[in-house]
Amino acid sequence: MAAEPRGTDSHSPANSLENHVRIFDTTLRDGEQSPGASMTSAEKLEVARQLSTLGVDVIEAGFPAASPDDLEAVRRIATEVGTQGGPIVAGLARCWREDIDKAWEAVQHAAKPRIHTFLATSDLHMERKLAMTREQVLSQIEHMVGHARSLCDDIEFSPEDATRSEVDFLVEVCKIAIDQGATTLNIPDTVGYSTPIEYRDLFAELIARTPGGKDVIWSAHCHDDLGLATANTLGAIEGGARQAEVTINGIGERAGNTALEEVVMALHTRPALYEISSRINTTELVRASRLVANYTGIGVPRNKAIVGENAFAHEAGIHQDGMLKDQRTYEIMTPQTVGLTQSKLVLGKHSGKHALKVRLEELGFELTREELAEAFLRFKRLADQKKNVTDADLQALANQELLSPEEIFTIEELQVTCGRPSIPTATVRIQGANGQEYVMTGVGTGPVDAAFRAIDRVVDAENTLLEYNVHSVTEGINALGEVTVRIESAGSESRIFGGYGADADVIVASAKAYMAALNRMLAALGTKYTAGEGAPATLAGAGPVRPN
Ligand code: KIV
Ligand code: ZN
Repeated sequence: MAAEPRGTDSHSPANSLENHVRIFDTTLRDGEQSPGASMTSAEKLEVARQLSTLGVDVIEAGFPAASPDDLEAVRRIATEVGTQGGPIVAGLARCWREDIDKAWEAVQHAAKPRIHTFLATSDLHMERKLAMTREQVLSQIEHMVGHARSLCDDIEFSPEDATRSEVDFLVEVCKIAIDQGATTLNIPDTVGYSTPIEYRDLFAELIARTPGGKDVIWSAHCHDDLGLATANTLGAIEGGARQAEVTINGIGERAGNTALEEVVMALHTRPALYEISSRINTTELVRASRLVANYTGIGVPRNKAIVGENAFAHEAGIHQDGMLKDQRTYEIMTPQTVGLTQSKLVLGKHSGKHALKVRLEELGFELTREELAEAFLRFKRLADQKKNVTDADLQALANQELLSPEEIFTIEELQVTCGRPSIPTATVRIQGANGQEYVMTGVGTGPVDAAFRAIDRVVDAENTLLEYNVHSVTEGINALGEVTVRIESAGSESRIFGGYGADADVIVASAKAYMAALNRMLAALGTKYTAGEGAPATLAGAGPVRPN
């Protein structure tokens, strides 16, 4: 595989005020507002440390007025992560004096503290939620932004539900906030209602029309109710926003917030298009994603962009073939860029011969063209039955091609008693290729275990059962059961062998599959036993009860 990073990855423009977008991470505030996402103080601190390693410009550490615990968590983050050279630490506050005082109490310990205060400005929110007139809202903003500014140099103001607010009123609101000392104006799409072009144009208009608008930082804050959060944030950046409010994995209220990793990697992957970069250390993205997923319990969807399990996985034969020739055919960024070690070629029913050959070679199998053709047929059959073909499957598959499965032992009879209450017991009659018959019993935790133990007592060949799969070939109660097993031989040069058995009785199918795997193992490991020459040394202990 090509180790070179993609051409598009390698170029990133130099940072300047104009081409740098600040990454404001609100995982610990808006993200933590995801239903069921709450984290302990210790977990929040750990996430904050990772955000700092990631290189975010601002950490919104929480909403100090929400509870004494929240205040304490923000205070600890301000003290321990917001140190000299670290990120700005922001605390959220409604546009009320008590909230602002609590936010200041918590963030003042940071080297670079910020108070982020907000008040709704859409008619709907003002009338129905706040029961305030426009005049009252303007006056509240004037006094509270002013109050916040008397405490802290760095003030951010958000007109909540901005995208459903009247633009002329928004201009007035933003002007008052700027006049009172706000240096960052955040224009939230609180309910994920906007679209990329509309949101871009809103920024362009607000920046152009708001007195003092060119001297402050404009910020985008999007929710994903229509699945447009990332697109809208990028739209805002095109419109002049130079701060993006985001969360790791896009967690947040309802459908979530803009995903940090998506915005960062869009800018990183398309530098010529945006000519704007963040200061994020992209190789820390996956680590941050996993940390947040673990602590919040909100898993990352497999197909999630950038950090999902399948983001760098390829199954289609055409794609795998392309990837093996040049990764850039099907990947626009390297997995290493986001902190993964490599892409994944998932072997499944859509995979081609090329990928199978490469994976088998990686596993140490050099097959001839004919062997590969045969292995590929078996692989396709297996992939039809099994969702994921594992390396153990492939090793077993390759061993099958390289070894002629000699029937050293054959199961002639199998009887099992089980149920409740009873001790699952199996009795096997096995025919050896030496002409002898062996009868043994085994007890186990269930009927299959009992059957395997009975077989083990005859064959006496040390192995570990790696995998046991059972599925029905046909539908209904009389379905034919198919079983595949994978066993690993003991010893320092252990190898994996597979066996397959089918029968209407699933216990019999299991015993056949296990026996087949054992036969392959004995043949491959070259036991002294060969058909017709008497019992091998490994059969010591097995009692021939019906000698020929
Ligand atoms: O979505 C929103 O409007 C918010 C504000 C508090 C910024 O989260
Ligand atoms: Zn929000």
